Amino acid sequence: MSDGLENVVAAHTVLSDVDGAAGRLVIRGHSLDELAGHTSFEQMVALMLDGFVPDLPAAKDLPAALGAARRELFDTVVVKAALPAKLGPVEMVRAMTALIPDGEDAGAALRLLAAPAVFTPAALRLRQGLAPVAPDPALPQAADMLRMLTGVAPTQAQAAALDTYLVTVADHGLNASTFAARVVASTRAGLVSAVLAGISALKGPLHGGAPGPVIEMLDAIGSPANARTWLEAALDRGDRLMGFGHRVYRVRDPRADALKGAIRRLGPDGGRLALAEAVEQAALAILRERKPNRTLETNVEFYTALLLEALGFTPDSFTCVFALGRTVGWLAHAHEQIAGGKLIRPQSVYVGPQPRQAA
Ligand code: CMC
Repeated sequence: MSDGLENVVAAHTVLSDVDGAAGRLVIRGHSLDELAGHTSFEQMVALMLDGFVPDLPAAKDLPAALGAARRELFDTVVVKAALPAKLGPVEMVRAMTALIPDGEDAGAALRLLAAPAVFTPAALRLRQGLAPVAPDPALPQAADMLRMLTGVAPTQAQAAALDTYLVTVADHGLNASTFAARVVASTRAGLVSAVLAGISALKGPLHGGAPGPVIEMLDAIGSPANARTWLEAALDRGDRLMGFGHRVYRVRDPRADALKGAIRRLGPDGGRLALAEAVEQAALAILRERKPNRTLETNVEFYTALLLEALGFTPDSFTCVFALGRTVGWLAHAHEQIAGGKLIRPQSVYVGPQPRQAA
């Protein structure tokens, strides 16, 4: 029995390797450095799903196939969905995703890979009382998602920054949402069900829900001079500092620097990098003082918050963008699990009362 399944190995995978001691992430034989900033979302889909989805379109045909899937989802789901306005963006995206027919085929995979790109901008616009913008199937998916968000074509640098983000978060070993997706896939419930499980696990603040609170922290700190006082007070209250610490990494999360590079490449459109760097340095110093026996370093979520804010996403929608990138990993893992064929069914140790003996 291991609390939180810490250090338990539950799958063989060819998809990714997280080396927590060296701070190294390998995805299908490539280091993160080789992929982030050099690979589009569509190329990442082709790389990750290669060999797993037999009828998936070839790499060169994927952009058009994803464009057609975006168009179909807009016409069949966004235009028709009547969602209560009080739902948050993640709940809206999850509700719309649940309307996609379940299955294990390439059609289901393509719809799921397009879903957060269409549903996230639509959810954000609907909440502001604006009409959703229809997809342009001819555009690459990252550029089209930003266009559907703002109504205007993004710059090449902005589209490239979103591609960098999506590729950086595409897969990361047996994290909580990927494990959830594999459990559901192992029951043969279908890819839509597996992805819905992934979204539900991802939204928690200890997993993919962390970057929204990072923005709240930066807003509350306001200027570098306030960083130490604010962070000390947060830890005194027993709060965790969002964007720091990791179950596997005992050194800096390599994804943090991949995203920081993408923010730098945005130049003046890169948002409040100077404040973030000052807060990061103060947080790392305080965490070292307070937790000398536990290495707590910056994780992917800290610079995720900065990058997605700079691209125009609201903090409550950051998890939806994470879900778009991670859907690639969820689908690959779901297929790997299905191919392995074994139902995931661990055991528990009963520590409750025993029935009374008959007299
Ligand atoms: N701030 C302050 N203290 C922390 C933090 C933090 N961010 N993270 C861990 N600790 C402390 C924790 O209080 C505990 O101290 P003690 O032993 O004195 O009780 C010690 O470090 C070990 O914590 P743990 O809960 O055993 O560590 P874990 O491996 O279960 O947790 C984590 C990993 C990511 C949930 C945790 O570091 C955390 O809550 N971080 C903040 C939320 C966050 O940034 N999440 C994103 C994770 S990375 C991307 C992803 O998974 O999506």
